[in-house]
Amino acid sequence: MSQTWWRGAAIYQVYLRSFADGNGDGIGDLAGLRSRLTYLKDLGVDAIWLNPWYPSPMADGGYDVADYRDIEPVFGTLDEAEAFIAEAHALDIKVIIDVVPNHSSTESAWFKEALADRRARDRFWFRDEPDNDWRSIFGGPAWTQVADGQWYLHLFAPEQPDFNWDNPEVHQEFEDVLRFWFDRGVDGFRIDSAALLFKSADGYEDLDGVHDVYRRWREVADEYGGRVLIGEVWLPDQERFARYLRPDELHTAFNFDFLSCPWEPAALRRVIDLTLATHTPIGAPPTWVLSNHDVTRPVTRYGRADTAFEHGGRLHGTPSDLELGYRRARAAALLAMALPGSVYVYQGEELGLPEVEDLPDEVRQDPMYARSGGTNPGRDGCRVPLPWSGDGPPFGFGPVPGPGAGPGTGAEAGAGPAAPWLPQPESWRKLTAEAQAGDLGSMLNLYRSGLALRRDLLGDGTLTWLPSAADVLAFTRDSGLACVANLGRTPVPLPPGQVVLSSGPLDEGELPPDTTAWVLPPGSGA
Ligand code: NOJ
Ligand code: CA
Repeated sequence: MSQTWWRGAAIYQVYLRSFADGNGDGIGDLAGLRSRLTYLKDLGVDAIWLNPWYPSPMADGGYDVADYRDIEPVFGTLDEAEAFIAEAHALDIKVIIDVVPNHSSTESAWFKEALADRRARDRFWFRDEPDNDWRSIFGGPAWTQVADGQWYLHLFAPEQPDFNWDNPEVHQEFEDVLRFWFDRGVDGFRIDSAALLFKSADGYEDLDGVHDVYRRWREVADEYGGRVLIGEVWLPDQERFARYLRPDELHTAFNFDFLSCPWEPAALRRVIDLTLATHTPIGAPPTWVLSNHDVTRPVTRYGRADTAFEHGGRLHGTPSDLELGYRRARAAALLAMALPGSVYVYQGEELGLPEVEDLPDEVRQDPMYARSGGTNPGRDGCRVPLPWSGDGPPFGFGPVPGPGAGPGTGAEAGAGPAAPWLPQPESWRKLTAEAQAGDLGSMLNLYRSGLALRRDLLGDGTLTWLPSAADVLAFTRDSGLACVANLGRTPVPLPPGQVVLSSGPLDEGELPPDTTAWVLPPGSGA
């Protein structure tokens, strides 16, 4: 693959805890991921992005990192991580990992040292009294007091103390961490909370110092070649967003405007145009993201009266028409895959999983739930372990039976895998990867077909809008392939040519509402 593979890549997000459990303790791990790599190869992805896999007390699903140079024992070992990277590479799949530079864990060596010795506190944000009245992004105060009376800042949970990026040691540490993993073969980093590192009396969002940090990180990445830095940058201001993507900074950043956008033609067209206008002048490829481990699953979101995503709007008991949501999620998937740049698929999106909204309160683990006093259900509902096979929970989430399994080997009935860490709905029996694999009309096969066609005909490049009705999004790509998404209420005609893929059946040759089709022009030889 080329040095710029990331420009048009299809990147699959693995939330390791919930992907596949290789040792039967109910928690996903590296052994489980390694046993399912061929599934990802068959799906047709170019790269995997893993959420944090580092040792962590899991106060925030691993975003509370205790050691940036090792693997959480529940997930496996450093040797297994290296074996996984080698196996992914052998399948021509790149590996991107998460790095969390804004904050650490109260269990990290540096924070423990800081607690034990006041002179070792400058790597964090300690004060005699809180400097301000900032609130934590998860709810509650952003300052916590320690036993000797001082306070430390945490933009997220109290278990996630913020680093002090005015301290050069912090800069050095993270450059070393990048090298540690680049030396082990990782192909890139997804940078958590990338715009929040610096703090001042004015606030913490997007302060200028971050750009020098990423310029330096870019130099490190460039020393290795073919590596990618991807920013988690939630900034509504496009001009400020674009600064992160200047040629000597990050390579790409997530498109949260697209992810949050309602299923409405004018809004989507505006976001697509704005995205292209932001990226084109600086030569950075856009990214297209419909979901991740922090947001409501599209099938559920698109079935609601309000189809936008907003963190604060994640309310209990918001009704959703899941059939409608499912149809739209299929249409949205083909739209996202057709747009120029890279595309992300969050695990389970390819299975059409809905948000699990009826988790019992006592199993919810997201600090967002507890810190909002239970008013915000939090993000557990999009993190429920994947259903792989079978008729009931755990739906094959546990170890894949090998040739040694069976009577007399200790793997027989009774010694089955532990229940997954979050309960799966019984209704998922229709949504297992196994059930969908043989069904040509399934979401899984839509993703497989879409990603396969995308590889040859879409990805990096440019887009040209076609004339269309106001509630239709229609454009062609450099290959000549046309993508038409109907967000209106009546069927619309398609351009002449061969329909190579559509998210739902056509209606007498016309494209029904909430459906997307890909059309190759006549004579293009496909
Ligand atoms: C963004 C991550 O995606 C989210 O899961 C996490 O809780 C926060 N950053 C804090 O690390
Ligand atoms: Ca496990």
